[in-house]
Amino acid sequence: MKNIRDIDITGKRLLIRVDFNVPLDEQGNITDDTRIRGVLPTINYALDEHAKVIIMSHLGRPKGERQEKYSLAPVAKRLARLLDKPVQLAPDCIGPEVEKMVARMQDGDIVLLENLRFHPGEQANDPEFARKLAALADIYINDAFAVAHRAHASVVGVTEYFSICAAGFLLQKEMDYFHRSVSDPRRPLVAIIGGAKVSSKLGALRNLLDRVDKMVIGGAMANTFLKARGFDVGRSKVEDDLIDTANELVDKARQQKIKLYLPVDCIVADRFAPDAETMRTTTQEVPRDWMILDIGPATTLLFAEALENAKTIIWNGPMGAFEMDAFSRGTMAMVSHVANSHALTIVGGGDTDVAVHKAGESNNISYISTGGGAFLMLMEGKELPGVAALNAKDEQHPR
Ligand code: 3PG
Repeated sequence: MKNIRDIDITGKRLLIRVDFNVPLDEQGNITDDTRIRGVLPTINYALDEHAKVIIMSHLGRPKGERQEKYSLAPVAKRLARLLDKPVQLAPDCIGPEVEKMVARMQDGDIVLLENLRFHPGEQANDPEFARKLAALADIYINDAFAVAHRAHASVVGVTEYFSICAAGFLLQKEMDYFHRSVSDPRRPLVAIIGGAKVSSKLGALRNLLDRVDKMVIGGAMANTFLKARGFDVGRSKVEDDLIDTANELVDKARQQKIKLYLPVDCIVADRFAPDAETMRTTTQEVPRDWMILDIGPATTLLFAEALENAKTIIWNGPMGAFEMDAFSRGTMAMVSHVANSHALTIVGGGDTDVAVHKAGESNNISYISTGGGAFLMLMEGKELPGVAALNAKDEQHPR
C-alpha cells in the first residue's frame, strides 16, 4: 500500500480521513484521546512538508443530520493543544463556506471539517457527496483504520475522484502489525478470544482456527462452549442457538490439531451486580441459580501456560465482566501474562484496550489497535473496504 511518504505533498491540499470517534462524557469532554494521538505522526509529517492539512472525521451516529452534541468542536480544541498549533473548525464538511475557508489556507494551516455524518451521503457512500468532499483537495490520505471497515463516502467513494491516494502512518502501522500477527506470524501463534457473544466473533473464530496454533476462549462466550461440551452453566449467559456451532468449532480445532483452551474454573455470582454474592467453583459445579462472570484462578494459570512458548499473541475480548471489580481479576491477570510474555503481542477490539489501560500495562504490549469493528473484520480474514479502495488506486496509478 502506497503511503504518505511515497508521494510529494509539499504545498498541496491534503484531505486526510481520520477516525476521531472518541468517547465523550455527559459534559462533552473527551475521556480518551488515543485516536487523536494516533494520527499525530501523519499530521505532523504533512505540516513539516508544508502541506495544507484538511482533516475529516465522523463522531458518533448522528443519523445524517446536524446534532450539536456530535460536533467535532471538542476534538478541534484537543487537536490544537496536542499539536500546539491553531486548528480551525469548519462550519460543515462541504458547501460554499467550507470551500472559501479551504481556498484561504496557507501552507502549514489545518482545517478540521465538521462531522461527516451530519450528511446522509456519508454512510450511503453517495458519489455526489464524495465528489464534493474531494473537490476540497489535491490528494487523499486515509489514516482512519478504525473506520476502514465501513464503505462510506469519505473512506471509499472519495477515492474515485483523486488520482493520488495514500495511507497515513497509523493505517500503515495497523496493517503491518496485523500482517505480522496473523498473515505471517512467528509461531507458535496464540489467539485469546473473549467477550460476550460467540455470534459476534463467529467469523473471527472460524478464520483464526485456520491460522493459529492455540486458541484460548474466555469471557461470557466461553459459556456457550462449556454448555456445548455438556457442562451445566446455571443461569450464565449462553447462546443456545450456537451450541451446535460451538461443537463444530471444537471438532474443527481437534481435526486441525489446534490446541483449544476453555475455562476449568470460574467466579460465579448470584446476580449480575457489583455487590453480588460470589464464589469460585469448577466448571463442573456451577450452582444452578448462579452465573459465571469471570474465569477462575486455575483457568488463569492454565491460560498462562498456554501462552508460555508463544512467539505471537493476538487478543480480542475480556475474560469476564471486568467493568465490575468483583469480576475483573481474570482479565487483569491475563493482561499481566500477555504484557510479561516474550511474544509479539497485539491487542484490539472490544474492551480489551480498556482493560490493558486499566491495568497500566499499555507500554508493555507490542501494539494496541485503535480499531474495534475494523480489527474484528481483519480477524475474520476479510479485506477492509477502505484498504481495498487504496489498493485499487495503487493498481491504477502505481508508484
Ligand atoms: C468505531 O468506533 O468503531 C468506528 O469509529 C466506527 O464507528 P461506527 O461503528 O459508528 O461505524
